[in-house]
Amino acid sequence: MSELLITGGRPLEGEVPIQGAKNSVLPILAATLLARGQVVLEGCPRLRDVDASIAILRYLGCIARWEGDSLVVDTASMDGCAISEELMRRMRSSAIFLGAVLGRWGRAELSYPGGCELGPRPIDLHLQGLRQLGAAIREEGGFLHCRAPRLRGSEIVLGLPSVGATENLMLAGCAAEGTTVISNAAREPEIEDLQNFLNACGARVRGAGSSTVRVEGGAPMHGCTYRCMPDRIVAATYLCAAGAAGGEVYLRRAREDHLATLTDLLRQAGCTVTADGGGIACRCRGRLGGVGPVRTAPYPGFPTDAQAVLMAALLRCRGVSVFEERIFESRYRHVDEMARMGARIRVSGPTAVVFGTPVLHGASVRSTDLRGGAALCVAALGAEGVTRVGALHHIDRGYEDIARDLRALGADVIRQATDEN
Ligand code: UD1
Repeated sequence: MSELLITGGRPLEGEVPIQGAKNSVLPILAATLLARGQVVLEGCPRLRDVDASIAILRYLGCIARWEGDSLVVDTASMDGCAISEELMRRMRSSAIFLGAVLGRWGRAELSYPGGCELGPRPIDLHLQGLRQLGAAIREEGGFLHCRAPRLRGSEIVLGLPSVGATENLMLAGCAAEGTTVISNAAREPEIEDLQNFLNACGARVRGAGSSTVRVEGGAPMHGCTYRCMPDRIVAATYLCAAGAAGGEVYLRRAREDHLATLTDLLRQAGCTVTADGGGIACRCRGRLGGVGPVRTAPYPGFPTDAQAVLMAALLRCRGVSVFEERIFESRYRHVDEMARMGARIRVSGPTAVVFGTPVLHGASVRSTDLRGGAALCVAALGAEGVTRVGALHHIDRGYEDIARDLRALGADVIRQATDEN
């Protein structure tokens, strides 16, 4: 095991390129099952969740190998449609493989991905939509037995704009006969990225980014070379790092059009944020002002994945900042860890109120989940003295090398091995 040693209290100065987006690459890796031929994913981020997807692809008989920073996938040799429970549990977003396996094989056998650190993670909308496309799905003892010798396009109205359900149905729709229309679809940029990938493979998908996605199914799909979008949540993390520590950072490849709700709030709090064609610059001086209420919502609303890192930036705000988490039930687990650093936060149901405190101090803390862990690193940059951040396996799910990136931004961060099991 390892931990991060972060010595905070000094302003940042530097620039870093933003890695490819985890939430694009995961559905794209599932989508490779639909393409006959080799897929080359350039600049694919090396993450624990990507490793988990590779393990699933290999378990299904596919070939996946790294060539430099490209991940090369060939699914021609796929020889199974069952995914082990161990692999399904390793990554909570493994449900995304359901639509692709079913589309490719006409059958899928897998276990429920289960709940996660953020609370229950139902997939009822995924299953309901797949049933509408003609799949027979039997749920038994935590396992899903799915049959769909022929998927047929249909009009599906999602009860809420679920990212995963939209993606799953896009994949199944590509393999279905006829047209699939997904209404009340999620509008996240990663869905547009998935559409671009599918179309680069020969599929006919349009409308992603709006609430209606239309898939003309049955088009033969081939391999392609693709580079996914920059990770907007990693970019959000480093913008918030500048907010917490002060200083000036430049994030290459980061796209402000993906981050408008966050950059607006950082500006309100007193930071200067500017975008040129190549990235985003953020300059912050002194304590930030309080903001809020920050309400998490489906895109284009404020992303739930950026709630913890923005909170970390605002722990030393002048006045009060209010958060309202409306997507996941248990998304304030980082709060108790932040309190160890001297943060003053009161949580009541979905609301968290941050009472800004002038000084935070280093402490020994543990990541509670992926973004909560990153938020502890952000908070540590604004704290006096040394913070030790443990349970890094959470952070490694989504950040290629957070220590490397923060060092490039001028922070004092060391990753070291511990004896802890
Ligand atoms: C994706 C992201 C995750 C992000 C989340 C919300 C990936 C790999 N993960 O997760 O980082 O935090 O979007 O932006 O892209 N729901 C149901 N039934 C369903 C599906 C979802 O009730 O069948 C609920 C969920 O419990 C949650 C809400 O819908 O409250 C949003 O979930 P969803 O958009 O599906 O998130 P994920 O795709 O799991």
